[in-house]
Amino acid sequence: MNILLIGSGGREHTLAWKIEQSPLCKRLFIAPGNAGTALHGENIQIDPLDFEEVEYLCKVLKINMIVVGPEQPLVMGLADHFKGKRGFADLIIIGPTKEGAMLEGSKDFSKKFMKRHKIPTAGYETFKKSELKEAKVFLKSMKEPYVLKADGLAAGKGVIISKSLSEAEKELELMLDGKFGQASEKVVIEEFLDGIEFSVFALTDGKDYIILPEAKDYKRIGEGDSGLNTGGMGAISPVPFVDEAMMQKVIDRIIDPTVSGLRKEKIDYKGFIFFGLISVNGEPYLIEYNCRLGDPETEVVLPRLKNDIVELFQACGAGKLDIIEIEKDPRSAVTVVMVSGGYPESYEKGYPIEGELKTKKSNVFHAGTKKSNGSILTNGGRVLAITSFGKSKEEALKKSYATADKIEFKDKYLRRDIGFDI
Ligand code: AMP
Ligand code: GLY
Repeated sequence: MNILLIGSGGREHTLAWKIEQSPLCKRLFIAPGNAGTALHGENIQIDPLDFEEVEYLCKVLKINMIVVGPEQPLVMGLADHFKGKRGFADLIIIGPTKEGAMLEGSKDFSKKFMKRHKIPTAGYETFKKSELKEAKVFLKSMKEPYVLKADGLAAGKGVIISKSLSEAEKELELMLDGKFGQASEKVVIEEFLDGIEFSVFALTDGKDYIILPEAKDYKRIGEGDSGLNTGGMGAISPVPFVDEAMMQKVIDRIIDPTVSGLRKEKIDYKGFIFFGLISVNGEPYLIEYNCRLGDPETEVVLPRLKNDIVELFQACGAGKLDIIEIEKDPRSAVTVVMVSGGYPESYEKGYPIEGELKTKKSNVFHAGTKKSNGSILTNGGRVLAITSFGKSKEEALKKSYATADKIEFKDKYLRRDIGFDI
């Protein structure tokens, strides 16, 4: 079959690498892709948010399956665009409709969904601008640290956690005044959960689901989890404290009620659900949903998945995930992200990347890279994700750091403490 993969980051390079391994994949196209995805398929320079263009491409290239990496096209309705369209009845889209993508696209929607289905999560209230007074009263009733969330997508910057009430009040006003545009027309104020985070990914056909290996990512820019939040500076899988008993709690209390909730509410959902979880004294709580795979979690989750991923996608499209058995590599996988100096604030792009981009020790997944006149150049904040396997995460980390040391670009930066805290 001909597959179109949407996106351009490390997650998409990893998906392309995995999809290419499937004998079911005849041709793979990536829109827009990066220098890494080009090693596994053909990059096509279109804007994935221009659905007419995506539709035209699907017609011309006889695409049978679209796999959507990032959330934005889904939240904007890419899957809905093809619904009931002549000539696309058999097209499989891995990614939910707009309504399903609201699980990520609106914090208020997702919190209400969790509440309706009795899924353990932080207590909260949602407020709009006309309710500033009530919002401040509610904020005062919370304990520090205070958690404020823009309702809509805010490029990963919409969550503010503040120790000071006066700072939180100021931030609340700014948000309701349009700090994040439409995304902060509503603000969720929620209880702070103190615990340790991890992520679980399910692929659902709307009825059944399979669970991929769990992962933990490292979000802060600095060592010891300090400094600004980033898209993710590294990840590990498996996660030592997520044992069978914990996974069973996650399944019973969070995944099962989510999938049956989607079904009961007749929300059409064929795709990944990312459960952002936190263990509070050994009990799992759901912090957030995403309607996609995580990045850089994908860079450790997919290498540990032994199944043919296109077979999984086909089963998902056909509503037959119930017959799939997941096979996992028991080894540890880790990924270490190399970023441009200055990220997540301003940084330069266009520096040549030199060194061992191909090595037997590791998989070097490209995130922000592009090819230009035969050279590979930096083209984003997160540049490369170096994934390695080991009998232990320590052994895997040693390999990833050794590979990272053999790759150079101007102002490169990476965290040296991925996976050391647990
Ligand atoms: P979100 O976009 O909802 O995942 O929030 C981003 C990050 O903020 C999470 O990954 C957590 O590290 C942190 N966070 C969000 N909500 C809470 C909460 N209620 N308690 C503690 N930390 C939180
Ligand atoms: N690494 C977190 C995310 O993809 O949202």
